[in-house]
Amino acid sequence: MKVPVLSDEKIIDSWRKNATPWTKAIRESQIESRTLVTNQAIVEAVLSVSPHTVLDVGCGEGWLVRTLVEQGKEVMGVDVIPELIEQASQLGRGQYAVLSYEDLAEGKLSRRFDAVVCNFSLLGKDSVNNLFGAIPHLLQPHGSFIVQTIHPVLGTGEHPYFDSWREGSWAGFNNDFSDPAPWYFRTLSTWVRLFSTNGFILQELQEPIHPNTGLPASALFVGKLQTAD
Ligand SMILES: C[S@@+](CC[C@H](N)C(=O)[O-])C[C@H]1O[C@@H](n2cnc3c(N)ncnc32)[C@H](O)[C@@H]1O
Repeated sequence: MKVPVLSDEKIIDSWRKNATPWTKAIRESQIESRTLVTNQAIVEAVLSVSPHTVLDVGCGEGWLVRTLVEQGKEVMGVDVIPELIEQASQLGRGQYAVLSYEDLAEGKLSRRFDAVVCNFSLLGKDSVNNLFGAIPHLLQPHGSFIVQTIHPVLGTGEHPYFDSWREGSWAGFNNDFSDPAPWYFRTLSTWVRLFSTNGFILQELQEPIHPNTGLPASALFVGKLQTAD
């Protein structure tokens, strides 16, 4: 059966097709906003909450896991795409497992971490809403949930500013990429509400600025779990 074009399912389908060029793009530092701004922003945000243990959800080929391990953290990375987990495992320096957000929402990982991080990996609608509900069960009491994502004010582009599915694009990427993943656009207030309705106090909302454009390269949220579940 054909996968619906704007759906959580389609996101996984697209990432499966693009695992190889994605790994190459990250390892060759092809994405300027990452090398100039957002990589450092997410690493500093995670380190700022002083975790011993970290879960990287939607870890891709594992660069953030490796970076945090180098900082002395015990880190696990999970992703739904087996090829990406395979690529990550080959470079080692962390624990990895093939797990989807749906798996995490069903309680298939029964460990708790001091921090959970999602770096540009929260793309879908129900998959993300349900994952938010599962994060408190993956955290120690008062653990931190750190999310970096496309800045909604810039990400809305020419579209009206309300939550909705958007078509994907590989604009700015090389020709090895194909069939871009759709994504579910959320306004800033929707992101803030996702934290508060799932038991988090939002401790920080950062807007890392791209030095060449003077515009936000991302929105970065640091939520602290209010109570143990
Ligand atoms: C833009 S990449 C970011 C990867 C990594 N966090 C990084 O910073 O390089 C998005 C990642 O989210 C993962 N992903 C998307 N939907 C997922 C789902 N439902 N379950 C698990 N992983 C998912 C993709 O496989 C992909 O690795």
